[in-house]
Amino acid sequence: MSRFARRMTHIQPFHVMALLARARELEAGGRSIIHMEIGEPDFVTPSPVVEAGIRALREGRTHYTPAVGLTALRHRLSGFYRERYGIDVGADRIIITPGASAALQLVLSVLVDPGDRVLMADPGYPCNRNFVHLLNGIPVGLPVDADTNYQPDAATVRAAWTGPVAALLVASPSNPTGTLLTEADIRALFAVTQSQGGRLVVDEIYHGLTYDEPAATALAVSADIFVINSFSKYFGMTGWRLGWLVAPGEYVGELDKLAQNLFLAAPTLAQYAALSAFDPENIAILEARRREFRARRDYLLPALRGLGFGIAGTPEGAFYLYADCSRFTDDSYRFSTQLLEETGVAITPGIDFGTHLPERHVRFAYTTSLENLQEGVHRLKAYL
Ligand SMILES: Cc1ncc(COP(=O)(O)O)c(C=O)c1O
Repeated sequence: MSRFARRMTHIQPFHVMALLARARELEAGGRSIIHMEIGEPDFVTPSPVVEAGIRALREGRTHYTPAVGLTALRHRLSGFYRERYGIDVGADRIIITPGASAALQLVLSVLVDPGDRVLMADPGYPCNRNFVHLLNGIPVGLPVDADTNYQPDAATVRAAWTGPVAALLVASPSNPTGTLLTEADIRALFAVTQSQGGRLVVDEIYHGLTYDEPAATALAVSADIFVINSFSKYFGMTGWRLGWLVAPGEYVGELDKLAQNLFLAAPTLAQYAALSAFDPENIAILEARRREFRARRDYLLPALRGLGFGIAGTPEGAFYLYADCSRFTDDSYRFSTQLLEETGVAITPGIDFGTHLPERHVRFAYTTSLENLQEGVHRLKAYL
């Protein structure tokens, strides 16, 4: 008889995967599907990075790197913080990881003891609660809504800080809501974590993908905050599996030790390729893509509202719109399934992001062309 560790009962699959599988099945049968469920850029990695990757392979860059990453890449990232944000982040505090996913696991592993609580926004990125479960910790969802721009505020965090709390984990811009924390918000959250003796972890993976103001980095607030980032989203490198973590100096040794054991190192090929990610030629391509994402958001937001979806404010970043669909349904999962079957439009039901009113919400990702979005809206209009 198979035996599984008890913690596996807590680990949830992505519900959207079942929808995606069905969408692929329909496509294989000849149906046209508009994909608005996918959480990665539709653009392929820009050619300067691809070429750098090919060069690295030809040069025989196929061995392990140090566990904390290539020294040259850590320095490039340090330079990136100086150029883009005007702040000094020492290369020795930057750890290169196999995606933000590995960075989140490293941070939580050095902070969370069994039974510790980790506070996070609900709705929020689904993997976070599973990472905490793997450590036999307790993820605590803080219900957030339009009143606080779908981000936890200091008062909510303070009220929820009961029992052993290891950390508060927030994301700006957020997945699934696309909303930001201002520098003042981050400062206020940091003050609470400081006063309670816990840590603040800020996931900045969607930095670079903001359409009004640039996102504030938590690193400008304090060197005592853990910051997660990645080459996946802005840099368009999801499949290369490369991210990074900026940690308070005194944690680097322990994080290095853990990275050696868990991953040995991030992919070598990806690290060499990423050395070219900051070249002006590459940044110009990424900025053109950012403008394209903004045009998509600026089309989709009013179009969905016009159909009767509720979206508060203007989501400032990432590539998601989190929409209230209660005008049409009290079961967003069934609604998403019906939309797929009836119209060929694929979206993500709220249930993937937490337990705070998921049945009333769906996430639209604008990770497909403007023409596809227009066709999707056209189909929704006819159906609804
Ligand atoms: C908020 C957030 N954090 C982390 C990740 C993990 O990204 P990766 O491991 O590709 O860097 C994602 C991916 O969708 C995300 O949305």
